[in-house]
Amino acid sequence: MSSRATQAVRAVMRQDVAGSGNAPCAALDLNRDPAMWMDEDIVDRGRLVESMAKAWARRSALHAAVDRCDAYRLMDGRHEGAPGWTVDRYGPCVLVQCFGRGGAPEELVTALVELFQERLGADTPVFLKERFGVGSAREREDGRQVAGPALVPAGDDSMGHRPGRLVVNEHGLRFGVDLSYGQNTGLFADARSARAWVRANSQGRRILNLFSYTGAFGVAASCGGARSVTNVDRVRSAIERGRVNYSLNQLESDSRTHLRSDVFDYLRRSTRRDESWDGIILDPPPRPTPGRRRGFDPRRDTEKLFARALELCGDGAWVLGMAAIQSPSLFDLGEQIGEWERLPTEADFPVVEGRGRRAAVLQLR
Ligand SMILES: C[S@@+](CC[C@H](N)C(=O)[O-])C[C@H]1O[C@@H](n2cnc3c(N)ncnc32)[C@H](O)[C@@H]1O
Repeated sequence: MSSRATQAVRAVMRQDVAGSGNAPCAALDLNRDPAMWMDEDIVDRGRLVESMAKAWARRSALHAAVDRCDAYRLMDGRHEGAPGWTVDRYGPCVLVQCFGRGGAPEELVTALVELFQERLGADTPVFLKERFGVGSAREREDGRQVAGPALVPAGDDSMGHRPGRLVVNEHGLRFGVDLSYGQNTGLFADARSARAWVRANSQGRRILNLFSYTGAFGVAASCGGARSVTNVDRVRSAIERGRVNYSLNQLESDSRTHLRSDVFDYLRRSTRRDESWDGIILDPPPRPTPGRRRGFDPRRDTEKLFARALELCGDGAWVLGMAAIQSPSLFDLGEQIGEWERLPTEADFPVVEGRGRRAAVLQLR
């Protein structure tokens, strides 16, 4: 570990002790936390269509570059005039999510579908998730296709049999996404510039991708010429999807590329083995997983995570963090070793002061 990092770890741990291990990291993620949407009143048809049309026009540069990147947010309703709705583009498909209590009114969905068909073609597949609609939690997470023909699976996608599955392109990186399976699709579009940064800054480095989910950062690092990449997540299906993302990008995996483990268990093992990394990615969940006593809790565990990660950084390493903007958070730590350099936010995720997520990098010199 570099000596400046050693000092920082000590300082961080002192803060931890002072805060009785319960520092106030109110890292609620407003972009990803559906609970924050629950009380939204769903707007009427006229306002929804108008907001969608304006949001569409604002993204003309992204539409024009769709052959280079075809996964992006078409409307973030909370900040663009239609609270309770988000709309995303994934290749030829559109995913509408409604966070209004009781679900999405049918005439509003029809109005949106008509708009997409007008702009993208009559046979545009449209998927709908009603996050606070009727039915079981599972049914609401999984969503359903409401327009367009069934998708034709990409020939090299071993998960192509799943309904709602397709492969998208982000500046030459290929990612499998699932529009009607699970709470999230498999790709967080708001981390696009962070993935680009990782790709541009991984050449020859040993990269540790913690909370790797479907391994998107790992793919970016590997395609950027990393010497080695280790992706760590505790969920088996996420690890499995990470493997598939690697093969979609013709990347080799070995027994250390995709590890199913609790992050703290892994960090302990890595410390015992005296390992050292040249780049560490920290993208922890924004809130505790319900029902998991031992799971990651941002309020309790952020300092510990940061300190343990720093202990494994070699000289010249970087740490890339993704977290909610609200302070105090990950980005309030580490002042002893430098400043977090904030990465640009995506044009399709409007910045509203004090809300949303950001990505930032800390360079250890
Ligand atoms: C915010 S997502 C990460 C997104 C990912 N970095 C990406 O770019 O797509 C959080 C991930 O952390 C994983 N996770 C949560 N607690 C964990 C723990 N204690 N150890 C390992 N993984 C954990 C979840 O399974 C989930 O995949």
